[in-house]
Amino acid sequence: MLEMAQSLTEEEKYHRFMERIEAGERIEADDWMPDDYREALIRLISMHAVSEIMGALPEKEWVPKAPTLHRKLAIMAKVQDEMGHGQLLLRVAEDLMKPLGRNREDILKDLFSGKLKFHNVFHMKAPTWGDAGIIAWLVDGAAIITQSMSLNSSYGPYARALQRICAEEVFHAQHGESIILALTEGTEEQKKMIQTSLTEWWPALLMFFGPRSKENVGKSHVNKNIKYKIRTKTNEDLRQEFFNKYVPRIQSIGLKIPDETIHFNEEKGEWIYEQPDWDEFKKIVTGHGPMSKERLELRTTSYENTAWVRDALANRNVKEAY
Ligand SMILES: [Fe+2]
Ligand SMILES: [Fe+2]
Repeated sequence: MLEMAQSLTEEEKYHRFMERIEAGERIEADDWMPDDYREALIRLISMHAVSEIMGALPEKEWVPKAPTLHRKLAIMAKVQDEMGHGQLLLRVAEDLMKPLGRNREDILKDLFSGKLKFHNVFHMKAPTWGDAGIIAWLVDGAAIITQSMSLNSSYGPYARALQRICAEEVFHAQHGESIILALTEGTEEQKKMIQTSLTEWWPALLMFFGPRSKENVGKSHVNKNIKYKIRTKTNEDLRQEFFNKYVPRIQSIGLKIPDETIHFNEEKGEWIYEQPDWDEFKKIVTGHGPMSKERLELRTTSYENTAWVRDALANRNVKEAY
């Protein structure tokens, strides 16, 4: 079989690969794959991995300040889960990078140097407990919508990692919903706090899904990922799903969406809404958001301080250490 594959031309291999994709077959790490499929996966999964890791930081700030023991245990478990998601995805990305002579350390170095971007939402401040609630309820809610789309991804290891990740994300969103419901039933001050958090996070939540394809002209990442069945929906499809699910829920608990224009247009069959500032989005994801610098510095220092653990595990410099 291997000899047969080796005797095929690159064009024939590509043709066979696309037949497998079309037939809904799963591609595995050791299978032949075209370079741009591998690159698309590395790009997507690396970004997903570092976003999980950076995503633990805004909520980590709330572990020592959580209002009750019960909330503290829940938010600690969530932070640990997010780091675990990052580790799982780094392994998936690392397997894809092996033939290119690269590994997970390269991914982290790209994060520290600013070459590899992480999700816009994790560049934002989380100064109140209301923010911790909004992150868990709506950011994780948005992540569930995005990640569920790839549960049937053509790349087997990514799809399998997402099975576990999505299951845990559901717990995160329930934890967030529980915080929000408690605050909306609380004092006037608590109600005000949660409304302020929603108002401040709303543009970031819309940006989470990325620009519409037409605003993304020249960048074919989304289209390529759809062609290869790594993902199945456009950014706008996902944002509309988010509105379908969350606009009624947000309004039903008495919170006000900070967009007077938002409504469902029956004729078009879609939500009409005020666009967030996409120039601001570019600024944020290129490392110029309110907390980009602090969070990257924290992550870099932590990575440097734990070098001895990695060295010990890899049995490097063990003699020097003792
Ligand atoms: Fe996660
Ligand atoms: Fe999560």
